[in-house]
Amino acid sequence: MAEPILKVSSLYAGYDGVPVLHGISLEVMPGELVAIVGANGAGKTTTMRTICGLNHPIKGNIIFEGMDISHLQAHKILRLGISYVPEGRRLFPKLSVEQNLALGAYIEDSKQEVDKRKEELYEIFPVLKARAKQTAETLSGGEQQMLAIARGLMSKPKLLMLDEMSLGLMPSMVEKMMEIITDINKKGTTVLLVEQMVQEALEIAHRGYIIQNGRIVHSGYASELLESEEVRKAYMGM
Ligand SMILES: Nc1ncnc2c1ncn2[C@@H]1O[C@H](COP(=O)(O)OP(=O)(O)OP(=O)(O)O)[C@@H](O)[C@H]1O
Ligand SMILES: [Mg+2]
Repeated sequence: MAEPILKVSSLYAGYDGVPVLHGISLEVMPGELVAIVGANGAGKTTTMRTICGLNHPIKGNIIFEGMDISHLQAHKILRLGISYVPEGRRLFPKLSVEQNLALGAYIEDSKQEVDKRKEELYEIFPVLKARAKQTAETLSGGEQQMLAIARGLMSKPKLLMLDEMSLGLMPSMVEKMMEIITDINKKGTTVLLVEQMVQEALEIAHRGYIIQNGRIVHSGYASELLESEEVRKAYMGM
């Protein structure tokens, strides 16, 4: 059987030594699209930040492609092939679309390669090409989110991690974003995403994990989670 590309085991992490994650375990297989869903404050962002090295585990470990990355620095983890698109987009507001994209590929030295990747991303996100010279702060919310995702892809990650990309977007834009992510995944990038929009996320994911108070309380095939009455009642208001 194939090995997981990412394996998180009994992870404890938090702030100032106080854990907010109490033994998170999860796996992502190569090529999968996995969703972590749960309410505000459940620990979704903390999980993502700890995987990509912006937070450090108190206990437990994180294995990426067979290598223990639990205590590596974020820039090293990026070089290994994990790209994190943070909650709230965190673009460089005064820089143009193309400058923001170029910064996503700062680990790549060849300008030719950077330009090639930009062109590839403009095919997925034509609106960004049309706005290449515009500063990020002048983009609409949806365009900014697309730029954040595109920037995350500029490093050619093996694993793309997306934190709450639906935040502040109108429903039609959320739907579009979900389609784009499905497409990116189908083209070969493994995706781990975090969402408060439980239903929308589970509809595009292969598998899901439901996190509550720093613990995984349900996991399974996304289709099964979507059908589970308990999950529907607790997380989809049905
Ligand atoms: N920098 C920080 N310092 C102290 N506590 C923090 C910090 N960031 C988050 N926390 C706490 O950790 C817990 C988990 O927060 P986290 O941001 O991981 O949740 P989340 O599931 O991403 O929530 P949301 O859906 O609102 O983004 C919360 O109780 C939060 O208050
Ligand atoms: Mg969060």
